[in-house]
Amino acid sequence: MNVFQESRRIIITCNKRLSPYLEKEVRDLGFEPERVFQTGVELLGTVRDCIRLNLNLRCASQILYSLHEFRVNSPQELYDVVFKFPWEDIMAGEGYFSVTSNVDHFTINTPLFANVKVKDAIADRFRRNTARRPNSGPDLDQTVVHLYWKEDRGELFADTSGYTLAKHGYRKVPGKAPMLEALAAATLMAGKWDRQSPFVNPMCGSGTLAIEAALLATDRRPGLYRDNYAFMHLLGYEESFYREEREQLDARVHDVPGLQIIASDISDDAVNVAQSNAGMAGVANLIRFERGDFAKTTVPPAPGVVYFNPEYGERLGEVQALEETYGRVGDFLKQQCKGYTGYIFTGNLDLAKKIGLRASRRIEFYTAKLDCRLLEYELYAGTRQKKQSESESESGV
Ligand SMILES: C[S@@+](CC[C@H](N)C(=O)[O-])C[C@H]1O[C@@H](n2cnc3c(N)ncnc32)[C@H](O)[C@@H]1O
Repeated sequence: MNVFQESRRIIITCNKRLSPYLEKEVRDLGFEPERVFQTGVELLGTVRDCIRLNLNLRCASQILYSLHEFRVNSPQELYDVVFKFPWEDIMAGEGYFSVTSNVDHFTINTPLFANVKVKDAIADRFRRNTARRPNSGPDLDQTVVHLYWKEDRGELFADTSGYTLAKHGYRKVPGKAPMLEALAAATLMAGKWDRQSPFVNPMCGSGTLAIEAALLATDRRPGLYRDNYAFMHLLGYEESFYREEREQLDARVHDVPGLQIIASDISDDAVNVAQSNAGMAGVANLIRFERGDFAKTTVPPAPGVVYFNPEYGERLGEVQALEETYGRVGDFLKQQCKGYTGYIFTGNLDLAKKIGLRASRRIEFYTAKLDCRLLEYELYAGTRQKKQSESESESGV
């Protein structure tokens, strides 16, 4: 089996509701998806294709290359199937591997149990055939085997990514309530920003949105910030495959003359963190950082995009205090962002009503815990805006 040349099923996983944006990225790379579902995209390809996908995709989490499909009804059957698979074709006997899984079967109470069965079967096969066995453990920085098992259908994959692709590698300091990088990128793709006109991000926190905006505009892809992937530890890997793809990423990076990205926050700590993350991403010179209340953020002449990700508040007292903040955000959009397209990303739709503007689109997203919306507002420059905000403040929407 030469996984670098053999075409098989590839499943690209992503966070819930990111698959429309992931699908677009996959198509833009020249691949034809076979299937798109809520948490992923399926296509046919080789591990060489997986290398390209790993380096380029902003919205993906894991890129799984199918090794074997089978029927399975008990942990012992799982062990037997895994034991029979020729692991020596894809991993070295003296190497290290890790097992992850997505299991839903009545005989399995904890996925860790299924992982141990897979790990034992692989190790036992190596021991029997070669008198050596690879080490195993939880670290995802070398070979990673993934088990999918739902009802009686099992599938083994080589996880070609290892650690998740949803984190883009430049954020060394997380800050408070940061957005996942893949989610931030997807929300920018979902919106109307043309990647040239001003992008204003008050309440920037650790800077994820402003940084992802700079990465999108200049076509810096996630592979620029990472130098270890699980595919590098599969037998048959040749560094030249990877180098070719990596060089293409360098070649894509371009300047956008006059690009204005402005990020501000009231917290000095947040701005320091955002600046340091932007430095790690190599885009600090593309973002103007400001400190202070959001209402003082510089807004260049329209058109442009202004994007807020305010706190949602978990306790009642916090929510009450945030009502006023959301109201002020609405005033800022109406008064200081005329001619812009505004975006609010929030997990609290009741608070969003305090904005006092009618959203032109409500795009569904999901974070680890919450149903979220990206709300889009057309902030007309003329009388239309005035009439609209007057009628809406009466209706409270
Ligand atoms: C949910 S966090 C933003 C997280 C950000 N999207 C990220 O990925 O890190 C909200 C941010 O709003 C800032 N903030 C709260 N009230 C503010 C105000 N009145 N003016 C400016 N920033 C404010 C907080 O300091 C916090 O960094």
